[in-house]
Amino acid sequence: MNTSPSAPLGIGIIGSGFIAHFHVRSWQAIRGSDIVATQSRSMERARELASYAEELRVGNEVTPYEDIASLVRDERVDAVWVLTPNHTRVDVVRAICEEITAGRATLRGIAVEKPLGRNLAEARQVAELVRGAGLLHAYLENQVYAPRLTRTRELMWARGASRSGTPYLARCTEEHSGPHSAWFWDGEAQGGGVLNDLMCHSLEAGRFLLTPPGHDPSQWLRPVSVTATIASLRWGREHYAARLARTHPGVQDYRTTPSEDYANATYTFVNGDGEPVIVEAMTSWGYVGAGMRLSFELLGPEYSMSANSLSGDATVFFSRDLDQTEGEDMLEKQNAEQGLMPVIADEPAAYGYTAENTHVSRMFTEGKQPDESLDSGVAVTELLMAAYYAAETGTVVHFPTDLSDYVPAVARRAWHPRTTPEGGSTGDRNEAQA
Ligand SMILES: NC(=O)c1ccc[n+]([C@@H]2O[C@H](COP(=O)([O-])OP(=O)(O)OC[C@H]3O[C@@H](n4cnc5c(N)ncnc54)[C@H](O)[C@@H]3O)[C@@H](O)[C@H]2O)c1
Repeated sequence: MNTSPSAPLGIGIIGSGFIAHFHVRSWQAIRGSDIVATQSRSMERARELASYAEELRVGNEVTPYEDIASLVRDERVDAVWVLTPNHTRVDVVRAICEEITAGRATLRGIAVEKPLGRNLAEARQVAELVRGAGLLHAYLENQVYAPRLTRTRELMWARGASRSGTPYLARCTEEHSGPHSAWFWDGEAQGGGVLNDLMCHSLEAGRFLLTPPGHDPSQWLRPVSVTATIASLRWGREHYAARLARTHPGVQDYRTTPSEDYANATYTFVNGDGEPVIVEAMTSWGYVGAGMRLSFELLGPEYSMSANSLSGDATVFFSRDLDQTEGEDMLEKQNAEQGLMPVIADEPAAYGYTAENTHVSRMFTEGKQPDESLDSGVAVTELLMAAYYAAETGTVVHFPTDLSDYVPAVARRAWHPRTTPEGGSTGDRNEAQA
């Protein structure tokens, strides 16, 4: 660890895939911290990310590593960002923390991508390991830093809630046409399907909007109950299951053992004023539109807000007479290159990565705990597991409930919605375990 108080905070990036590139791009707008090291199991990919960081001038002489422990021991590394797949979360965090507790390295902080774990037991284990190593910590939920949410929340609470009362309903959705890497589709590796992958965002965005600025959502909102539905709507159909088998060989057969590609959940909370409030979260991997669609609404007694990412910053048009190549240069999870298309000019800023990394690295530099911490990650995981249980059993789950050892049927490959007599909008109820 660098001990000079004026030196920029040195960031080590663990995992060199899709989201690592997004984070590195965001650093172009960040001062006071630099990327100093990258890691991947493949030296070639770690080198590629390091060169990308140097090309964008967000780091000089960025050192690529294959080995996590070597990156943590690098004296230029002050904090690490954990950006590897969900099934590696506990092992990767353990490898980092062991270097600290054994005295082989020192770090100021650790930032961990969503979800914190594939289930509650894993999320708690990650938080315990980090606490045991005495590190500052951040849960990387970018949406609560997205300007479209932070600014509108300020306005809603300052102009609306202060005069007519607290907001009562947050409606948050995230949809796209399906993930980019094979492991996301594997229910066991990922911890479930779209509920685990995307509802972590929508739920936390909802809790954020319903909570006054300066308060912790886990303190302000007491969970009361949740109802939920999961379904296999698109990717379990013959044509799409066959396509998945072609594009991601080795992934489970979605005809018989899909992960859910649709999930909704309605959470009731009691807020700090003693009022009942609701988060409606809906997520899907079955949305075929221009690209990823994030939408948010907040309703209060005399005010409301709404935001939709596909409104974009601009629209462009390309005629049918132009030959096009596939890309994601207009927006994330882009599905088309022709016709009228929305463009998001600065995606790392619009989705919240820039403000997230600015805040987290500043807090680590100042020796302070970021607001969105691993405790938030544990709270979100607990709420998500309750939604899975409600969907699997077709029941209303009331809080508090003990989900310490619960693993969703989807993550155990025991969810067979297309072969159950009722056609299966719910899971295999006999196999639900809580
Ligand atoms: N905040 C967001 O909106 C957002 C978006 C995408 C992904 N994510 C999260 O980021 C994490 C990474 O996702 P991604 O999209 O970059 O995935 P990815 O598949 O694009 O990249 C994963 C990286 O981890 C490496 N890796 C794979 N298996 C590994 C193993 N066993 N041990 C160590 N490294 C391994 C891969 O080589 C690759 O470099 C996931 O937890 C995901 O949920 C968050």
